[in-house]
Amino acid sequence: VFRSRTAKHLPSFLLLGPNGAGKTALMTSFADGTPAETRTSQAPHSLEADIPANLSSSSKYRSDADPSLAVHKRFMLQDTPGHGKLRTAALSHIPESHGVVFVVDSSSPDLGDAAEYLHAVLVSIQKLQAKKTGINAGYPVLVACNKSDLFTALPAEKIKEILEAEITKVREAKSRGVVGVGQEDKDEDDWLGEGGSGAFTFDQLEDAGIVVDVKGGTVKEDGWRFKLGEWFGQSL
Ligand code: GTP
Ligand code: MG
Repeated sequence: VFRSRTAKHLPSFLLLGPNGAGKTALMTSFADGTPAETRTSQAPHSLEADIPANLSSSSKYRSDADPSLAVHKRFMLQDTPGHGKLRTAALSHIPESHGVVFVVDSSSPDLGDAAEYLHAVLVSIQKLQAKKTGINAGYPVLVACNKSDLFTALPAEKIKEILEAEITKVREAKSRGVVGVGQEDKDEDDWLGEGGSGAFTFDQLEDAGIVVDVKGGTVKEDGWRFKLGEWFGQSL
Protein backbone atom coordinates (compact mmCIF):
# COMPACT_ATOMS: atom_id res chain seq x y z
CA VAL A 1 0.00 0.00 0.00
CA PHE A 2 1.65 3.18 -1.14
CA ARG A 3 0.17 6.27 0.41
CA SER A 4 1.42 9.79 0.38
CA ARG A 5 -1.47 11.61 2.03
CA THR A 6 -0.16 11.47 5.60
CA ALA A 7 3.41 10.68 4.66
CA LYS A 8 4.83 14.09 5.41
CA HIS A 9 3.57 14.02 9.00
CA LEU A 10 4.86 10.61 9.96
CA PRO A 11 8.33 9.86 11.29
CA SER A 12 10.40 8.13 8.64
CA PHE A 13 13.01 5.40 8.95
CA LEU A 14 15.62 5.19 6.23
CA LEU A 15 16.65 1.84 4.73
CA LEU A 16 20.30 1.86 3.74
CA GLY A 17 22.79 -0.87 2.86
CA PRO A 18 24.59 -2.45 -0.06
CA ASN A 19 23.13 -3.74 -3.27
CA GLY A 20 21.11 -6.94 -2.87
CA ALA A 21 21.09 -6.93 0.95
CA GLY A 22 17.28 -7.02 1.01
CA LYS A 23 16.16 -3.42 1.71
CA THR A 24 13.29 -3.46 -0.77
CA ALA A 25 12.24 -6.96 0.31
CA LEU A 26 12.26 -5.87 3.96
CA MET A 27 10.20 -2.78 3.20
CA THR A 28 7.74 -4.78 1.10
CA SER A 29 7.28 -7.30 3.91
CA PHE A 30 5.92 -4.49 6.06
CA ALA A 31 3.29 -3.69 3.44
CA ASP A 32 1.38 -6.93 3.17
CA GLY A 33 3.52 -9.58 4.80
CA THR A 34 4.52 -11.10 1.47
CA PRO A 35 8.12 -10.44 0.52
CA ALA A 36 8.16 -9.92 -3.22
CA GLU A 37 10.94 -10.86 -5.57
CA THR A 38 12.39 -7.50 -6.35
CA ARG A 39 14.50 -5.92 -9.00
CA THR A 40 17.53 -3.77 -8.37
CA SER A 41 16.32 -0.40 -7.21
CA GLN A 42 17.24 2.70 -9.12
CA ALA A 43 14.97 5.23 -7.48
CA PRO A 44 14.00 5.35 -3.82
CA HIS A 45 10.43 5.03 -2.69
CA SER A 46 8.66 4.71 0.60
CA LEU A 47 5.63 3.20 2.23
CA GLU A 48 3.60 3.63 5.36
CA ALA A 49 3.94 0.93 8.02
CA ASP A 50 2.82 0.32 11.55
CA ILE A 51 4.02 -1.47 14.64
CA PRO A 52 2.58 -5.01 14.37
CA ALA A 53 -0.60 -5.73 16.32
CA ASN A 54 1.11 -8.09 18.75
CA LEU A 55 3.17 -5.17 20.04
CA SER A 56 0.80 -2.28 19.58
CA SER A 57 -1.80 -4.07 21.72
CA SER A 58 0.60 -4.43 24.66
CA SER A 59 0.27 -1.85 27.41
CA LYS A 60 3.53 -0.25 26.40
CA TYR A 61 2.08 1.05 23.16
CA ARG A 62 -1.57 1.26 24.13
CA SER A 63 -2.92 4.46 22.71
CA ASP A 64 -5.81 4.95 25.12
CA ALA A 65 -3.32 5.34 27.96
CA ASP A 66 -1.59 8.14 26.10
CA PRO A 67 -3.29 9.57 23.00
CA SER A 68 0.00 10.92 21.70
CA LEU A 69 1.19 7.35 21.20
CA ALA A 70 -1.57 6.74 18.69
CA VAL A 71 0.09 9.19 16.35
CA HIS A 72 3.40 7.44 16.72
CA LYS A 73 2.25 3.95 15.94
CA ARG A 74 2.58 4.60 12.26
CA PHE A 75 5.74 5.51 10.46
CA MET A 76 7.27 5.59 6.99
CA LEU A 77 9.88 3.25 5.61
CA GLN A 78 12.05 4.97 3.02
CA ASP A 79 13.80 2.63 0.61
CA THR A 80 17.02 3.60 -1.16
CA PRO A 81 19.14 1.99 -3.87
CA GLY A 82 22.33 0.28 -2.65
CA HIS A 83 24.40 0.81 -5.79
CA GLY A 84 27.72 2.48 -5.03
CA LYS A 85 27.06 5.45 -7.29
CA LEU A 86 23.73 6.23 -5.66
CA ARG A 87 24.88 6.16 -2.04
CA THR A 88 25.61 9.87 -1.67
CA ALA A 89 22.02 10.60 -2.65
CA ALA A 90 20.78 7.97 -0.18
CA LEU A 91 22.84 9.53 2.64
CA SER A 92 21.24 12.91 2.00
CA HIS A 93 18.00 11.59 3.56
CA ILE A 94 19.62 11.05 6.98
CA PRO A 95 18.82 14.51 8.46
CA GLU A 96 15.08 14.23 7.77
CA SER A 97 14.88 10.63 9.03
CA HIS A 98 14.00 9.36 12.47
CA GLY A 99 16.48 6.52 12.35
CA VAL A 100 18.36 4.21 10.00
CA VAL A 101 17.93 0.52 9.32
CA PHE A 102 21.19 -0.61 7.72
CA VAL A 103 20.58 -3.93 5.97
CA VAL A 104 23.38 -6.41 5.31
CA ASP A 105 23.30 -9.89 3.75
CA SER A 106 24.40 -12.31 6.50
CA SER A 107 25.40 -14.88 3.88
CA SER A 108 27.76 -12.49 2.10
CA PRO A 109 31.33 -13.84 2.11
CA ASP A 110 32.82 -10.34 2.10
CA LEU A 111 31.49 -7.54 4.28
CA GLY A 112 34.19 -5.03 3.29
CA ASP A 113 31.91 -3.01 1.03
CA ALA A 114 29.08 -3.09 3.58
CA ALA A 115 31.49 -1.86 6.27
CA GLU A 116 32.73 0.98 4.10
CA TYR A 117 29.16 2.08 3.41
CA LEU A 118 28.19 1.73 7.08
CA HIS A 119 31.23 3.81 8.06
CA ALA A 120 30.07 6.59 5.71
CA VAL A 121 26.55 6.38 7.17
CA LEU A 122 27.82 6.63 10.74
CA VAL A 123 30.15 9.55 9.94
CA SER A 124 27.18 11.41 8.40
CA ILE A 125 25.07 10.83 11.50
CA GLN A 126 27.95 11.82 13.77
CA LYS A 127 28.28 15.15 11.94
CA LEU A 128 24.54 15.71 12.19
CA GLN A 129 24.51 14.96 15.91
CA ALA A 130 27.51 17.23 16.56
CA LYS A 131 25.42 20.17 15.32
CA LYS A 132 22.54 19.47 17.70
CA THR A 133 22.29 21.09 21.08
CA GLY A 134 20.35 20.20 24.21
CA ILE A 135 18.99 16.86 25.35
CA ASN A 136 19.50 14.25 22.71
CA ALA A 137 18.25 10.70 22.98
CA GLY A 138 20.66 9.44 20.35
CA TYR A 139 20.07 8.73 16.68
CA PRO A 140 18.89 5.10 16.39
CA VAL A 141 20.65 2.79 13.96
CA LEU A 142 19.68 -0.82 13.52
CA VAL A 143 22.09 -3.11 11.69
CA ALA A 144 19.68 -5.70 10.29
CA CYS A 145 21.64 -8.86 9.51
CA ASN A 146 19.27 -10.17 6.89
CA LYS A 147 18.80 -13.56 5.18
CA SER A 148 19.30 -15.52 8.40
CA ASP A 149 17.20 -18.27 6.76
CA LEU A 150 20.08 -19.17 4.43
CA PHE A 151 22.31 -21.96 5.72
CA THR A 152 25.42 -19.98 4.79
CA ALA A 153 24.30 -17.03 6.97
CA LEU A 154 26.49 -16.06 9.90
CA PRO A 155 24.87 -15.21 13.25
CA ALA A 156 24.31 -11.53 14.03
CA GLU A 157 26.96 -11.56 16.81
CA LYS A 158 29.55 -12.72 14.28
CA ILE A 159 28.45 -10.15 11.67
CA LYS A 160 28.77 -7.47 14.34
CA GLU A 161 32.37 -8.52 15.11
CA ILE A 162 33.28 -8.62 11.42
CA LEU A 163 31.75 -5.19 10.76
CA GLU A 164 33.56 -3.68 13.75
CA ALA A 165 36.87 -5.15 12.54
CA GLU A 166 36.24 -3.96 8.98
CA ILE A 167 35.26 -0.46 10.16
CA THR A 168 38.48 -0.36 12.20
CA LYS A 169 40.35 -0.89 8.92
CA VAL A 170 38.28 1.68 7.01
CA ARG A 171 38.78 4.25 9.76
CA GLU A 172 42.55 3.76 9.79
CA ALA A 173 42.80 3.80 6.01
CA LYS A 174 40.74 7.00 5.79
CA SER A 175 42.84 8.75 8.42
CA ARG A 176 45.98 7.87 6.45
CA GLY A 177 44.32 9.10 3.28
CA VAL A 178 44.55 5.71 1.61
CA VAL A 179 40.85 5.56 0.77
CA GLY A 180 38.88 8.38 -0.75
CA VAL A 181 41.48 9.78 -3.09
CA GLY A 182 40.25 13.14 -4.31
CA GLN A 183 38.64 13.96 -0.99
CA GLU A 184 41.00 16.78 -0.12
CA ASP A 185 38.87 18.18 2.65
CA LYS A 186 39.92 15.45 5.07
CA ASP A 187 39.24 16.90 8.50
CA GLU A 188 39.10 15.82 12.12
CA ASP A 189 35.31 15.45 11.95
CA ASP A 190 35.70 12.48 9.66
CA TRP A 191 37.14 10.33 12.45
CA LEU A 192 34.38 8.00 13.55
CA GLY A 193 33.71 7.59 17.28
CA GLU A 194 35.17 8.85 20.49
CA GLY A 195 37.23 5.79 21.30
CA GLY A 196 40.51 7.02 19.86
CA SER A 197 42.66 4.87 17.62
CA GLY A 198 42.67 1.10 17.99
CA ALA A 199 39.75 -1.25 17.61
CA PHE A 200 36.40 0.27 16.68
CA THR A 201 33.28 -0.86 18.52
CA PHE A 202 29.70 0.32 18.00
CA ASP A 203 29.55 1.18 21.72
CA GLN A 204 32.04 4.01 21.11
CA LEU A 205 29.30 5.86 19.22
CA GLU A 206 27.06 6.43 22.23
CA ASP A 207 29.09 9.49 23.25
CA ALA A 208 28.65 10.77 19.70
CA GLY A 209 24.85 10.51 20.06
CA ILE A 210 24.34 7.33 18.02
CA VAL A 211 22.73 4.18 19.42
CA VAL A 212 23.51 1.07 17.38
CA ASP A 213 21.62 -2.22 17.72
CA VAL A 214 22.53 -5.34 15.75
CA LYS A 215 19.87 -7.97 15.10
CA GLY A 216 19.63 -11.02 12.85
CA GLY A 217 16.52 -11.93 10.90
CA THR A 218 14.86 -12.70 7.61
CA VAL A 219 12.10 -11.30 5.47
CA LYS A 220 10.79 -14.85 5.03
CA GLU A 221 7.61 -15.66 6.95
CA ASP A 222 7.28 -12.07 8.08
CA GLY A 223 10.41 -12.39 10.20
CA TRP A 224 11.42 -8.73 10.39
CA ARG A 225 7.87 -7.52 10.63
CA PHE A 226 7.47 -9.29 13.96
CA LYS A 227 11.03 -8.80 15.13
CA LEU A 228 11.36 -5.08 14.51
CA GLY A 229 8.12 -3.86 16.09
CA GLU A 230 9.78 -3.34 19.42
CA TRP A 231 12.78 -1.56 17.93
CA PHE A 232 10.57 0.82 15.94
CA GLY A 233 8.39 1.37 19.00
CA GLN A 234 11.35 2.27 21.19
CA SER A 235 12.92 4.44 18.53
CA LEU A 236 9.84 6.57 17.87
P1 GTP B 1 19.24 -2.87 -4.20
O1 GTP B 1 17.91 -2.26 -4.45
O2 GTP B 1 19.93 -3.32 -5.44
O3 GTP B 1 20.12 -1.98 -3.38
O4 GTP B 1 19.01 -4.23 -3.35
P2 GTP B 1 18.04 -4.46 -2.10
O5 GTP B 1 18.81 -4.25 -0.85
O6 GTP B 1 16.78 -3.70 -2.24
O7 GTP B 1 17.76 -6.03 -2.19
P3 GTP B 1 16.37 -6.75 -2.58
O8 GTP B 1 15.33 -6.43 -1.58
O9 GTP B 1 16.09 -6.46 -4.00
O10 GTP B 1 16.78 -8.28 -2.38
C1 GTP B 1 17.79 -8.88 -3.17
C2 GTP B 1 17.51 -10.36 -3.27
O11 GTP B 1 17.61 -10.98 -1.98
C3 GTP B 1 16.09 -10.67 -3.76
O12 GTP B 1 16.16 -11.78 -4.63
C4 GTP B 1 15.34 -11.02 -2.50
O13 GTP B 1 14.27 -11.91 -2.74
C5 GTP B 1 16.43 -11.70 -1.68
N1 GTP B 1 16.18 -11.58 -0.23
C6 GTP B 1 15.91 -10.46 0.47
N2 GTP B 1 15.76 -10.74 1.78
C7 GTP B 1 15.93 -12.07 1.92
C8 GTP B 1 15.91 -12.97 3.05
O14 GTP B 1 15.68 -12.60 4.21
N3 GTP B 1 16.18 -14.28 2.78
C9 GTP B 1 16.43 -14.74 1.54
N4 GTP B 1 16.69 -16.04 1.40
N5 GTP B 1 16.47 -13.94 0.45
C10 GTP B 1 16.21 -12.62 0.64
MG1 MG C 1 16.14 -2.36 -3.59
